[in-house]
Amino acid sequence: MTKPRILVIGSVNMDLVARVERAPAPGENVRGWDLRTIPGGKGANQAVACARLGADTYFRGRVGDDEFGPRLVRSLSEAGVRTDTVTVTDGCASGVAMILVDARGQNSIIVTPGANGRLTPEDVTAVRKLFEWADAVILQLEIPPETVARIIHLAAETGTRTVVDAGPPRKSADASLFQCTILTPNETEAAALLGCAPGSRTAEAMAEELLGRGPKAVVIKAGAGGAVVADAGRIVRVPAFPITPVDTTAAGDAFTAALAIEFIQDVDLLEAARVANAAGALACLRLGAQPSMPTAAEVDEFLAKHS
Ligand code: RIB
Repeated sequence: MTKPRILVIGSVNMDLVARVERAPAPGENVRGWDLRTIPGGKGANQAVACARLGADTYFRGRVGDDEFGPRLVRSLSEAGVRTDTVTVTDGCASGVAMILVDARGQNSIIVTPGANGRLTPEDVTAVRKLFEWADAVILQLEIPPETVARIIHLAAETGTRTVVDAGPPRKSADASLFQCTILTPNETEAAALLGCAPGSRTAEAMAEELLGRGPKAVVIKAGAGGAVVADAGRIVRVPAFPITPVDTTAAGDAFTAALAIEFIQDVDLLEAARVANAAGALACLRLGAQPSMPTAAEVDEFLAKHS
């Protein structure tokens, strides 16, 4: 059987991760421990997840010419991602995310984009051939908005399906974003896209409204609340698997990757969301972003145990 073919275009960061009892309030100084540097970045995490889940995967992105760059590229290629499309940006730092993981496994993140901010529309056009090769392109919003818009336009031109992970939250998304095939925000990101306060509307109501803006399907990641799938004629909540999280960082990235892989293999979106919930749950059971992306065998075993 041929492997699903995925092109991920997006960010790659070095995550500086510290454990804390709880995140500090403004002006407060709290003690942390176990500081680690762990490869991350929404785009790179999703590429690693795609490769571990069995897809033939290319990653298009930029690292800086600093000490983090080679390690970030190595982490991708060790996971099986094709990295000849990663560009080193001279005179620029790699993207860095400062992450606090609290006692409940919840995180707070600050991102300095570095080289991710230099990923241009021309960088996208340069890999046009890969749009023609791929079964789907996955993208996120951790790169410049004009680059996101070029991805959507090029995908439309080449007839390639697009899966948009709408993180991090963006208030002023270009309308072209809604021309994607599947839009998959979390609840905060969905509220930002709609311009409403987080928590003010149900995931079902937000999914319905986002669907009305143009995507073929909307899948809202609701964490412990599961996933809400909206496509032609239905809005259905697919329950989450009960787990005790160690670190929720990149759970949404594992979810997006698994959802995309199932979708391009013609799996119904409700079943795709169930598999994606399993991938997301597994990602919460290990510390860090890329090290916690599950393999296909781990997802199968988890689903067998929880069926
Ligand atoms: O989605 C998780 C990722 O968000 C982290 O790896 C961090 O780099 C930030 O981009």
